[in-house]
Amino acid sequence: MTATLPRLQRLAHPDFTRDLDATTEELTTLLDLAADVKRSPERYRSALSGKSLALLFEKPSLRTRVTFELAIQQLGGFAILNDGRIGVREPLKDMARNLDRWVSGIVARTYTQQTVDDLALWASVPVVNALSDMWHPCQALADMQTIREHFGDTRGLKLAFIGDGNNVASSLLLNCTRLGMKFSIATPAGYELPGEVLALASGDVEVAKDPAGAVEGAQIVYTDVWTSMGEEHEAAQRLADFAGYQVNDALTAKAAADAVFMHCLPAHRGEEVTDSVMESSRSVVFDEAENRLHAQKALLLMLLG
Ligand code: CP
Ligand code: NVA
Repeated sequence: MTATLPRLQRLAHPDFTRDLDATTEELTTLLDLAADVKRSPERYRSALSGKSLALLFEKPSLRTRVTFELAIQQLGGFAILNDGRIGVREPLKDMARNLDRWVSGIVARTYTQQTVDDLALWASVPVVNALSDMWHPCQALADMQTIREHFGDTRGLKLAFIGDGNNVASSLLLNCTRLGMKFSIATPAGYELPGEVLALASGDVEVAKDPAGAVEGAQIVYTDVWTSMGEEHEAAQRLADFAGYQVNDALTAKAAADAVFMHCLPAHRGEEVTDSVMESSRSVVFDEAENRLHAQKALLLMLLG
């Protein structure tokens, strides 16, 4: 028997360069679809038959790269990989107008958000942000799916982000607040979320004075590396600046009794998180990693389907 495909809603915005390219309603639809894709992957195995994706990576990746490649394959399409800096061998606007003659969509991991935005400007096919300096919207989709699975609903939960006010934290802020969660963040001085990102938040946001204050009453404790890709030259300074911001057993004990630990990965054990927290029964980091596949399938279905 052939599985029937549900009617797919297209995103109104042609690209997914940042979290807010999907409306809150579309985000909810996407998460529902991601749950169905996870439950019944066979229903979708020809949904993107003949479609192709160019995966452009300026920086290393395990999860994003493998899951986008598998996602398009398991939906009946295929991926072509290209590593290296964008706009160096030839102008970005030429590269974009080559690719859009061949492929159905472009997924790009870049140093700057400007590069993703310029690709979206010049390419006539959908462009997906696979991490930039500003945002990591695909990660946030998988994280919201993981939270929904674990708690049944997002509304009324509190997520505490401990560490660098970076791309991952920015995307989480927008998604948590749009889904009725409280977002609390504790960062060292100098590593706060950018003001323009805070200004985009639509819900309950708390800038805590320290990690203990942030995790109080939180059902989710989240952290990310202290030194992101491209910041390696600052690693020694950052190690010193983030002292006191490690997620360890003492800190997670201050969160809600049913709290889970989340991390986008890769993790630097012994820095932003201890081995003990990573391996604890609270840790759902591998569920998050798995959900990258399902959430991105839903995204591709809503962009290309
Ligand atoms: N979380 C994440 O984006 O992992 P990669 O850098 O391995 O893709
Ligand atoms: N903030 C990290 C996330 C890695 C998935 C980075 O940008 O390197």
